[in-house]
Amino acid sequence: MKLKVLVTPGDGIGPEIMEQGIAVLQEATQAGGHTLQLDYKRIGGIAIEQDGTPLPPKTLAAALDSEAVFLGAVGDDKFNALPTSKRPEAGLLGLRAALGGFANLRPVFAFKELTVNSPLRPEIIDGTDIMFVRELLGGLYYGQPREWNKEKGEAFNTMRYTRGEVERVARTSFQLAQKRRKLVTSVDKANVLEVSQLWRDTVTEVAKEFPDVTLEHQFVDAMSMHLMKRPRDFDVVVVENTFGDILTDEASVITGSLGMLPSGTVGGKINLYEPAHGSAPKHANKNIANPLATILTAAMLLRHSFALEAEADAIVKAVRKVLEAGFRTQDLARTNPEGLTVLGTREMGAKVREMVKKLLK
Ligand code: IPM
Ligand code: MN
Repeated sequence: MKLKVLVTPGDGIGPEIMEQGIAVLQEATQAGGHTLQLDYKRIGGIAIEQDGTPLPPKTLAAALDSEAVFLGAVGDDKFNALPTSKRPEAGLLGLRAALGGFANLRPVFAFKELTVNSPLRPEIIDGTDIMFVRELLGGLYYGQPREWNKEKGEAFNTMRYTRGEVERVARTSFQLAQKRRKLVTSVDKANVLEVSQLWRDTVTEVAKEFPDVTLEHQFVDAMSMHLMKRPRDFDVVVVENTFGDILTDEASVITGSLGMLPSGTVGGKINLYEPAHGSAPKHANKNIANPLATILTAAMLLRHSFALEAEADAIVKAVRKVLEAGFRTQDLARTNPEGLTVLGTREMGAKVREMVKKLLK
């Protein structure tokens, strides 16, 4: 099989973690007898500097011409003075909209070796396995009207959803739950917001198509607490864009580091894969960033865009084995350095790559 993938490394630690993600992807595809056809394009702050826009037309065209897009991270404080529509993040939001994927899958599971890194007690988080489905194309991020009126000293955004937008992301969530533990938790703020009342009503309707799956509703404030108190009780969690952005950063605490959270966005013309963390500019070019979220994202790419399950499983297993062997990036070694070997970004990537090679031999 030939895999045509567009790579957009972006800003900050993006290029470094992406180099390792690609190296592992290369290893896994080669071992399976497949060919990776890569194209590289700019997005975000680097594109603002070199092309004058965060989403250059060439990048967009290459993305639409690919079978999957693999993105590092975008954003840098030096662009903070720019209006929202010209910032690095606007490039990412433009790309997401153009590719059309509405269901951002963010799996949160606790590797046993890393539970000690979490401020939560092991007996709370052991065995946690949650699939967040974050709606990615609606809500506050895209809702019109939006404005910052500087003269008036007033600003507003619009959290808007249509029934159709909620239906499709709900359906994806129920389908995922059917292959897992058959529970969907839908998150909203229906006690206050009309948009959440529509969300809840629609998810409840869609649930009737899936009688084998249990649906429960949680208010987002309560959910943020339940996630920390009893994360094991959740299976698939479906949530609107902004609430999902917040809850998944919170949930990364369970995994021990935000540097462990992969993501893949499905449902559109072309799937988009990006680690859930940001560009962390202050850690850039020091060979200290954790590439594991990106490497796990590569596994999602193989699984969800190319159905290469064995290769995807091998990557996840390789990460587990490397952690079992005591190798850590510095973000994962702060709390318990004894007996561990701290590796740089490149060295960690190489370890996982080696292990993937062994596993797929
Ligand atoms: C994420 C990020 C992005 C988002 C930013 C960089 C626009 O925080 O993927 O979670 O808010 O969606
Ligand atoms: Mn985020």
